[in-house]
Amino acid sequence: MDELRLKALDLAKGKPATPKELAKVAGATTQEAAAWAFGQWELRLRAKVKFSQADSMLFGREALEQSTHEAVASYHARLFPVDQLVVDCTAGIGADLLALARRGPAVGFELDAERAEMARFNLNSQNLEAEVKVQDCLEKPWGTEFAFADPARRVESRRTLNPEEFSPNPTTLAANMRDLKLGVIKLSPLLSDSFLEDLAPRLEFISYDRECREVLAIMGMEAKPGRFAIHVESGEAIPDAFPPVEVHTPGQYLFDVDPAAVRAHAIGTLCARFDLSPLGTASGYLTGEVAIFSPWLRTYRVLYSGKADLKTTRRALSELDVRVAEVKQRGAKADVDKLRKELSTSGKSAASLVLWMDGASVRHTLAVLESQ
Ligand SMILES: C[S@@+](CC[C@H](N)C(=O)[O-])C[C@H]1O[C@@H](n2cnc3c(N)ncnc32)[C@H](O)[C@@H]1O
Repeated sequence: MDELRLKALDLAKGKPATPKELAKVAGATTQEAAAWAFGQWELRLRAKVKFSQADSMLFGREALEQSTHEAVASYHARLFPVDQLVVDCTAGIGADLLALARRGPAVGFELDAERAEMARFNLNSQNLEAEVKVQDCLEKPWGTEFAFADPARRVESRRTLNPEEFSPNPTTLAANMRDLKLGVIKLSPLLSDSFLEDLAPRLEFISYDRECREVLAIMGMEAKPGRFAIHVESGEAIPDAFPPVEVHTPGQYLFDVDPAAVRAHAIGTLCARFDLSPLGTASGYLTGEVAIFSPWLRTYRVLYSGKADLKTTRRALSELDVRVAEVKQRGAKADVDKLRKELSTSGKSAASLVLWMDGASVRHTLAVLESQ
């Protein structure tokens, strides 16, 4: 890394990016180094949501957006044996490579020389060792039985959901990984089931911070087939299963299912485990008679349920002396902000209004959140 840039980085630490401070740092280094350094501090600030040691790392604007959250990267690393060399085919600024190197021997490929340099810096800043080669990962044999890849889903800075436009191409990567012991490709969970099923025998839909962040397509001789939702914080994994028949009225409790469990088609597993039924026809809400505390479920105590009619719901709010603090929906396509304003009341306690689908009809349920 350029010495002047590193000096500027030190000088810019904790300083606001005002013309005066920029000029001061530029005076001691160069205009370019000063602008770069203030840019890095801005990116470091933004990166804190993903990296606990963001203040000692380097980022590129787009590369930071594409990088894996460190908790999720550490889950990726745990998929591989600790004593085996793992190749990270798409190192970027090194979020996954750092986790792999913390686990055991690792090597990275990266097409972009500047990102590769940042990945080296980031490894070094955490006393981790891994070679980062500026090279097309599809060009040469990897020299190992274990590989990870996180293809870029952008074309000229525009996001794409067409896997043919991903770089490297996931189908080509999968063809190279199939004969390994273990190959893992991180992809968008918005890709179709049929595309993902053709790619790999094992699919893991990853939940972190109650978001379905990604799907891992896992292949190779050691890959155990199946489709799972993985909850990173708790380490829980649940398999897919057919759900039971839906009910049309909520019981005492309504449950909002984690998006990764929904995407992994694992609702049936939660219904069987906790004696629950799907509520209505848009998958994602379950109901039952007992409060449940599970990482996969947000638990609500039901206060009222009825048709989606503003007048009737307003009357219920007034009788219960509650106000709408949150509007949630699955499949209803309502304007939730407008609805919240229209239903604003001065009720004593807060409740959630849940919009769910029963066939073509929208239903309103008022409920109180009991567990996150
Ligand atoms: C989504 S980013 C990877 C982010 C990385 N996993 C992280 O968390 O920091 C994909 C990276 O792959 C690189 N790339 C694309 N095609 C490649 C190829 N054929 N060989 C090596 N790197 C490639 C891109 O330059 C980009 O930095």
